[in-house]
Amino acid sequence: MASRPHGLQSPDFPLGSTCRATTTLQGMTVHRRPFVGGNWKMNTDLASGVELAQRLATSMREIVLHSDVVVFPPSPYLHSVGKALGISGIGLGAQDVSAEANGAHTGEVSCEMLLDLGCTHVIVGHSERRHGRGESDELVGAKTQIALASGLTCVLCVGETGAERKAGLAHEVTGRQLRVGLHGIELGALEGLVIAYEPVWAIGTGVSATVSDAAEAHREIRRQLSLLYNAELAARTRIIYGGSCTPGNVQSLLSQPGVDGGLIGGASLQAEAFLAIGQFAGEQGRRAAGSAT
Ligand code: PGA
Repeated sequence: MASRPHGLQSPDFPLGSTCRATTTLQGMTVHRRPFVGGNWKMNTDLASGVELAQRLATSMREIVLHSDVVVFPPSPYLHSVGKALGISGIGLGAQDVSAEANGAHTGEVSCEMLLDLGCTHVIVGHSERRHGRGESDELVGAKTQIALASGLTCVLCVGETGAERKAGLAHEVTGRQLRVGLHGIELGALEGLVIAYEPVWAIGTGVSATVSDAAEAHREIRRQLSLLYNAELAARTRIIYGGSCTPGNVQSLLSQPGVDGGLIGGASLQAEAFLAIGQFAGEQGRRAAGSAT
């Protein structure tokens, strides 16, 4: 792979953020379409997963006009959930993928197989794989590279543990995860990249990041992207928040400048809750698109 492109000299991210998923770059307004993902993890059975997908397919028609909505069911259910989503406009994604293209890798699932199943998206580097399954930054980087090369939209998760945050290392950790996770990936291959900032201590705990902590982390991640590549890439890449996001806090979290949507775990398993979160994102997307015209 060719070497990494270079970014800005200034360590300060120079963009004047206006509101939410909109950034002003050298006098131009860059609008980022909101993104809401439902990470079902190892939940549902086949029947309840299909039923959930059917409910979302009928209730989110308006929302998908203004926001990307993607569900990430367990791999064995991808095909059936994809059929249930039909032509609803809701994307289908896998929760993980192999770093290998094919061959003797028992238990692994390749990008090509996901594409065969109708997947458009994949999550890589979720903390439950980094910390629960011992995945290294390098392995996450290899997965990111092969996923983007295959044409899948890749949701690369980064985030610090509670101990790392207490030690003042949060920015260092997300910076390292981004640097290694994107190592060797050329600028031109990043069209399909979404970053999910998911502080490990907020995932599944009911304690989300404060709005100011989330906004600061997103600002820092965008600055890091700008340094790794350039300001334009940083301005157009969506950075979404994950970790105990619910209908109760979605408004305050997603209203923060630079927070472009959410990766939702627990709340994505209830159609009403996921719908409420999607509605907020869709409304933001509708308003931002309206103000851009
Ligand atoms: P949570 O999970 O919303 O249940 O905290 C988020 C995630 O792990 O992506």
